[in-house]
Amino acid sequence: MHLKSARKAKSEPVPSERSARPVALLQWYDRHRRRLPWRAAPGETSDPYRVWLSEIMLQQTTVRAVGPYFEKFVARWPDVTALGRASLDDVLRMWAGLGYYSRARNLHACAVSVTREHGGSFPDTEEALRALPGIGPYTAAAIAAIAFDRRTMPVDGNIERVVSRLFAVEEELPQAKPLIQRLAATLLADSRAGDSAQALMDLGASICTPKKPACSLCPINEDCTARAQGTQETFPRKAPKKSGALRRGAAFVVTRGNELLVRSRPEKGLLGGMTEVPGSDWIAGQDDAAAKLQAPELKGLSRWQRKVGVVTHVFTHFPLELVVYTAKAEARARAPAGMRWVPIATLAGEALPNVMRKVIAHGLELSRDPSS
Ligand code: ADE
Repeated sequence: MHLKSARKAKSEPVPSERSARPVALLQWYDRHRRRLPWRAAPGETSDPYRVWLSEIMLQQTTVRAVGPYFEKFVARWPDVTALGRASLDDVLRMWAGLGYYSRARNLHACAVSVTREHGGSFPDTEEALRALPGIGPYTAAAIAAIAFDRRTMPVDGNIERVVSRLFAVEEELPQAKPLIQRLAATLLADSRAGDSAQALMDLGASICTPKKPACSLCPINEDCTARAQGTQETFPRKAPKKSGALRRGAAFVVTRGNELLVRSRPEKGLLGGMTEVPGSDWIAGQDDAAAKLQAPELKGLSRWQRKVGVVTHVFTHFPLELVVYTAKAEARARAPAGMRWVPIATLAGEALPNVMRKVIAHGLELSRDPSS
């Protein structure tokens, strides 16, 4: 009795379910797996280079956005030693648009390390993979399972959702992560660990979706505790977000003919490495005059025009309100230190976060996002 009340999931698997679920998942996967450019065809062995590259690209980015980048990278650098010999600048250029440039730097550093320290072959254990640049616990488990069939379960957001519904995990995220990890491991088949993981990823992406899951098509629907309760959309449980205080700031949209003045955000922190127009700091209670004092200084700049209205954006930890100023620079005006001019027509190649797309559209009076 005591044990039961300590359980945080409504139904932990009993031994008979332990074998039935992984088999049902693999059978479903064999019929419905997504065709993705980095996946080996059924029966073929995976290429660790392609698995690693895709996993790094997929961190914080969607499968759909990654596809074309993945194809470009493997066409230019067909194996890890080719990537290890490439210059960092070339890698960063090819990465442009995927965002989070520290990932591209780590990608290159990892290729160099595999080339120089591992003779051009990825190590095949989770532990050794974790020692490489840019490879954390999730990515190490994903590569170990998918590329080397190690019996380990990488748990991403999709898998968290599937598992928390299947077992009706009442504990909230992120505290529930260790429990979800243990429950997810019960879904590993005796072999084909990588396919067990990818089956759950695909199930989460196509059937066990955040809203309106298609439970009638799910291969393990009869086992799903949340479905039996009719509560599937309420999982995973999450602590309500604490919304921070409103922060305010100014953004400066400076044009030189058809070019825009931009800079890159610091690698670490919010929107790390992404492109932005120059701006003030973003702080609660910021007053407009103080923010305006942080405008970039250029020779021969026109007067600043304050745009009517503000741009608002909600980050996970705080809402933001930006006042937008515009000015025109002379034809030969130099960009201040740390900033650069980019043609407005090529903004699509810049890693612009959504808040900056709004700022630029507001400043340039574009009716549409400048980078679409
Ligand atoms: N997301 C991260 N890794 C993935 C994979 N191997 N297949 C599908 N989605 C993924």
